Amino acid sequence: MTIKKIPVVRLRPGMFVSDFNADWLDHPFFLSQKLIRSDEEIERISAAGIDLVYIDTARGADADDMPTAEEAANQIEQALTRAFADEVAQTQPAGDGMQETNRLIGNARRAVRELFTGVRLGNSLDFQQAIETARQLVAGAARHPQACLLLGRLNRSDDYTFRHSVSVALVLGVFARDQRRPESEIESLTLGAVLHDVGKMKVPPDILNKPSTLAPAEMRVMHTHVAAGMRLVREVEDFLDPIAFKVLAEHHERYDGTGYPHGLRGEAISPGGRMAGIIDVYDAITADRVYRRAINPAEAVRKLFEWSERHFDRGLAHAFIKTVGIFPAGSLVRLASGRLGIVLRQGESSLMMPVVRIIYDTRRLCFVTPVDVALDQGSDRIVGHEAADRWNIPLERFLD
Ligand SMILES: [Fe+2]
Repeated sequence: MTIKKIPVVRLRPGMFVSDFNADWLDHPFFLSQKLIRSDEEIERISAAGIDLVYIDTARGADADDMPTAEEAANQIEQALTRAFADEVAQTQPAGDGMQETNRLIGNARRAVRELFTGVRLGNSLDFQQAIETARQLVAGAARHPQACLLLGRLNRSDDYTFRHSVSVALVLGVFARDQRRPESEIESLTLGAVLHDVGKMKVPPDILNKPSTLAPAEMRVMHTHVAAGMRLVREVEDFLDPIAFKVLAEHHERYDGTGYPHGLRGEAISPGGRMAGIIDVYDAITADRVYRRAINPAEAVRKLFEWSERHFDRGLAHAFIKTVGIFPAGSLVRLASGRLGIVLRQGESSLMMPVVRIIYDTRRLCFVTPVDVALDQGSDRIVGHEAADRWNIPLERFLD
């Protein structure tokens, strides 16, 4: 089996697409794999803004002179390492703050659940509750940024929409502070992130939670969550926060104009909207969804890096990678010693050398007593990232 990565302009009927490489779209509307039968299908793929896909040459026609998936991944790895290896994370931890951050996240998820459930029941938006939640998240993200980046995405048993809202708010808070945005703007951005998907409470649950591909009509209904959210906040009498509003209104706009609801392009999207779009996708693809499994955060960063050439504001996407790291907290990594570890936080000297909790030995094929190692102070080093699925490792169990 040879998987190759090809531009959509090289796609021909008879080729078998094994991955549309389009998770910056918020819900699949193509089957994840497909034999291409007509030029019209290729036009539809291209019209959706998809520019690079993976084909399986064992199941369909080949594309000569195109790189294999492995070669393409190596190219991205090299470019990423060149761009970021010498960088240092700006967000240094003040103590690890894991317990405090876990408590904060638990409280915020409860508050968002209450807030959103009220909307689902037809009540107007409890705006004071939203502001209070955002304030607490801003404070938590300022105190323990690295813990927020690690823990925001975890405990996946919670309902996705509530968990995702809190996680995007925390990560946007950390990112905006790294970007040295003024305090009042960080508060507005976080408030916008808490509310960015509130309109989903107006989407019928059978569409919102559908475990498979959405039909075009269902996709249109899903997209109405942005307008529904805008209506909900406009109904709030004292809602006078244009920055928060734009986070909500623009989080599905894409830099290349392929987003919705307005197909805004480039700088026509507010900085908050562009930041939120990046983080919305990052959080979505690193979480288990009803229709697909989470990917490793390290893999997600490589996707963002690739997509930043077109779908995202490149400068902001690269800045975001500097914030989360090239092996973000929560990534499973393989070390030169053959051991596997989970990245806990970034190290003090290089994004290549985070602090890692070692949990597994691939040479002896067994779990080891967990031990935390700062790679910039030892002799071991990262040789690559690994899918947790492949090793059947329940990462969350090692992060309590
Ligand atoms: Fe959304």
